[in-house]
Amino acid sequence: MSNDFSLSSFPELETERLLLRETTLEDAEAIFAVFSDPGVTQFHDLDTFTSIKEAIAVVGRRAKRFERGEGIRWGIARKQDNVVIGSCGFTWNPQEQSAEVGYELANTFWRQGIMTEAVRTILQFGFEQMGLRFIVAQVMLDNIASKKLLEKLGFQSQGVLKEYRFFKGQFHDLEQFVLNK
Ligand SMILES: CC(C)(COP(=O)(O)OP(=O)(O)OC[C@H]1O[C@@H](n2cnc3c(N)ncnc32)[C@H](O)[C@@H]1OP(=O)(O)O)[C@@H](O)C(=O)NCCC(=O)NCCS
Repeated sequence: MSNDFSLSSFPELETERLLLRETTLEDAEAIFAVFSDPGVTQFHDLDTFTSIKEAIAVVGRRAKRFERGEGIRWGIARKQDNVVIGSCGFTWNPQEQSAEVGYELANTFWRQGIMTEAVRTILQFGFEQMGLRFIVAQVMLDNIASKKLLEKLGFQSQGVLKEYRFFKGQFHDLEQFVLNK
């Protein structure tokens, strides 16, 4: 089994309602709409966006990380209009043949099963196409929506990592979840 996670081209995925595709500069406005909402960024290591330049930088960072084989982030677009309403993806850990999953969605679309549909599809891609052995997620303790999503997808809690990461000026406890192949 290879533990190189570089892909020759960006894999587009399709679900019943969604297209999971690479984001481009044309999506910057839509990405800005997602991250300029404090409800979305409150459980993220990113500050709430105040300028479109931050969304343009996100597109560039995602492309670089994909090119370097460090990770992949799909833009989530609805099939009906192809407008990006969120994203989901992996940061690879080649040595362990594992990945960390991350995601966020514009609040207008919360609680409609959209992230369940998107993440279920990328989990399958990760296990079946990328040969992952397990996938982890790290969640801030009061992020109920994210924990519920992970539990619904079959992840199990491994407990709390005390003061595990530093962002937004302080250390944060994170609950780690895992899903084995
Ligand atoms: C976490 C997030 C992606 C969930 O997306 P979503 O599309 O609303 O999730 P789904 O509709 O697929 O819901 C999945 C499950 O979680 C539950 N759920 C979702 N939001 C919830 C909430 N606020 N409170 C309680 N349960 C919630 C749903 O009811 C569903 O379970 P059910 O089918 O058994 O009822 C979304 O809330 C979000 O973008 N939050 C801000 C960004 C973020 O926190 N990212 C993750 C950082 S770790």
